[in-house]
Formats: sequence, C-alpha cells, structure tokens
Amino acid sequence: MRYKRPRGTQDILPDQVSEWRLAEETFRRIANDFGYSEIRTPIFEETDLFVRSVGAETDIVAKEMYTFSDRGGRSLTLRPEGTAPVVRAFLENNLQGTDPGRVVKLFYIAPVFRYDRPQAGRYRQHHQAGIEALGSASPALDAEVMHLAWLFYSALGLEQVDLLLNSVGCTVCRPVYVERLRAYLAGHARALCDDCRRRYEANPLRILDCKNPACRQVTADAPMMLDVLCDDCARHFAEVRKVLETIGITYQVDPRIVRGLDYYTKTAFEFVGKGLGAQDALGGGGRYDGLVEACGGPPTPGVGLGIGLERVLLARQALGLSVGAPARRGVFVIGLGEAAAQWAIAFLARLRAAGVRADLDYRFRSLRAQMRHADAMGFRYAAIAGDEELSRGEVTVRDLETATQESLPTEGAIEYLSSMSRREHCGGNAHG
Ligand code: HAM
Repeated sequence: MRYKRPRGTQDILPDQVSEWRLAEETFRRIANDFGYSEIRTPIFEETDLFVRSVGAETDIVAKEMYTFSDRGGRSLTLRPEGTAPVVRAFLENNLQGTDPGRVVKLFYIAPVFRYDRPQAGRYRQHHQAGIEALGSASPALDAEVMHLAWLFYSALGLEQVDLLLNSVGCTVCRPVYVERLRAYLAGHARALCDDCRRRYEANPLRILDCKNPACRQVTADAPMMLDVLCDDCARHFAEVRKVLETIGITYQVDPRIVRGLDYYTKTAFEFVGKGLGAQDALGGGGRYDGLVEACGGPPTPGVGLGIGLERVLLARQALGLSVGAPARRGVFVIGLGEAAAQWAIAFLARLRAAGVRADLDYRFRSLRAQMRHADAMGFRYAAIAGDEELSRGEVTVRDLETATQESLPTEGAIEYLSSMSRREHCGGNAHG
C-alpha cells in the first residue's frame, strides 16, 4: 500500500526550501521593520469563531471549511484564514492592555485550509503571510498595510503587481447599496450563472467579482458601491488614496473588489500578479472595523492583509527567479583505510563541536566518489587522510573552491578549519 498526500496539498522538498525561507525571512524582516510583532495561534479554533467573523453565507464557511468534532464533542475547524484567530487571541490575551487607543500590530506566517477545487495556484492547504493592525481607524494605516505588501513583492523581484482598490462601505451605506444592486439585478436574473442566482438573495455583492462572462456583462452597468458611500466612508476612501499617492504607490480603483469574507468595512484591496492564470491574486485584505466587536470585544477598528506564499513563489518561478546556490561552506571529512575511518569519525565530531558545518560519507567509498559528493553538497573544504598519512600525524586540506591543497598537522587542522569557517560565516550567504 502506497500512501499519497491528500489532494490539494504539497510536500515542500529540500530543494524548494530555500525559496520558502527567502519569502518567509523577507516577510519577517519587513514586518518587523514596520513595527509588527510575530504571533502564532493554534491551527484549529472553535468553528463558531469563523462562522461569526467570516460570515455564514460566504463560500469559505458554507463550502470550504475543514470542520470536525473532537472526542469531547466540540466542533473545531482548521484555520481557513488568519484574521479571526488573531482577533480572538488579541481579545483573549488582552493585548491592548489598559490603553484603548493603543495600536497593536501583529504578523503571522501560517498554513491555511480550504476545501477548494484544486488547480494551479489553488490548494487545500496553502500558506499565508499576514498582518493585522488593531486599534486605529486612521486611513494612513490602511496605506501602511498596502505599502508593506508592495515592498515585500518588490523585494522578491515581483515588480509587475497591480494594486486594485475599492471601498465596500459600512453598516450605514452598504445595506442601501445592496438593495440598489438587488433592484438592478432583479431584471437580469435569467442571465446570471447558477452560483450568482443563489448569491442574489444571500450575498449579492459577490456577483460583482464572478468571473463568468455573462455575469460580468450583467454587472458592467450595475450601480457601484463607490457611488453610494456615506460621507464618512467617502472621506476615508479619499484619504487612503491621498496617502497612497504621497507614499508613491500606484493603484487602480476597481469597484469589483468585494472580497470573499464578510468582515470588511471601507477599504478592500487585492494585489494581482501578471501571467499567473486564473489564480492571480497574490494577496488581499482590507479594513474590518466591526470584527473585534463581533468577536465579543469592545469597538476596535482594524485593518490587515494576507499574502498567499505559494502564489508568490509561483510568480517568481514564472519569471525565472530563484535563490542562487549558497556559498560553499564547511568541511567534508574523508578517511581512507580502517584507522583513518575511526580518525574521520572523531575529527568530524570535533569539527561539529567547534560549530563547523561538517559531514562524512558513512559508506566510506573511494576518494573520487567522496570528493564528488563533497563538491555536490557545497562543502568548501575536504579534510583527507589515509592510514599512512595519519601515522605521520598529517591531514590534507583541500580547498574545493580554489582547487588548491596543503598538508597540515592533524592537531592544528581543527583550529585552522574552524577559523576559516568563521570567516566564511562573516562573508557567507544567509540562505545556505
Ligand atoms: P483571502 O483573500 O481569502 O484573504 O486570502 C489571502 C490570499 O491567500 C489570497 O490573495 C491568495 O494569495 C491566497 N489564497 C487564498 N486561497 C488560496 C488557495 N486556496 N490556494 C492558494 N492560495 C490561496 C484572507 O484570508 C484574509 N484573512 C486576509 C486579511 C487579513 N484581511 C485582513 N487581514
């Protein structure tokens, strides 16, 4: 019996890990530089948290959650997104303390689970790098969130990313808009796809981002949220645009950006990559000023974003970008002969204890085979000794980069190699 990974999941293999680490470390560095602290929440939460926050009528909650009962009969759900768990942790751990005006800025890198139809760029387990800023209604903070993502994509070499911006209004103006939209769509119900006919009652806003050409034609002349915004939302939207322009971030206003989660208010945005096919959203987010309250907390505004790391790495791949080979580093120990094999094991242990990257070939193959292996594994030096050489108290140290070698006394070799290795570390590649 051969087992397979579950459909829609991926193994991240050793030769792919350097790309993941680059993305994760870049995100961590930028988020830290922007004043965000890392948070790690459980992989599963009470189901009701997502129903209440993401919304019972959304595709995520209605069709895509991995929900199960534990042995105590509790309904739990694998995290289908990162915002609600952060809000739950913010409240449960009283991260705001006693100052209700304090802005709490958090980031996470975490697996997310959605029972979606798998295809290129769409998985049942994906990873999101996200940030959440809680406690401020300032439009400048909305712009900060977008700026962070913008710098992240650019640091990874993704320059062809469009920022699509919209406002989805608030509890005052959105109901007015939804009624106007329904009234308009009522005359076109027959032209809509089956999904959108269902959305008409429960979630008509989602009809605006349906990709079906017939639905797009219907909504081309539909009233748009931006025309119905209340004064407060219109002012906020104008201010966000102004700050983006001040920072120098280009964007397009796109009234079809409505997002697939119900908690958004005012700002909603998506980053879209070029040449990625249907799954081209590299990240998305927005403001959610009612979410903390919906989760049982005091009125607290918030804004955030989630970036799909698989899609970011696919975009890099499409551009032919990849992490270069790491700099050569460390020592491969080769003992040729019975006594030399024992020496090699002890020498290896001493190198490792001294903090040097080091390994040996436990098959003790021929010199040629071991040298080839050392080269392929990216070692800088090979420390080679045969029985006869050892009896003279000598070891050969070969520099695989310069293809030069010298004979050293076995005793001094550890010190020499560990001092060379410290030097490699100073000038070396962080992703080795
Ligand atoms: P979302 O738009 O549902 O937002 O997901 C964020 C990003 O995750 C998407 O733009 C996409 O890059 C990636 N993504 C989503 N679903 C999949 C999938 N099935 N396979 C691969 N990648 C996927 C949220 O989840 C919000 N929590 C974002 C947020 C944070 N809003 C405010 N704060």
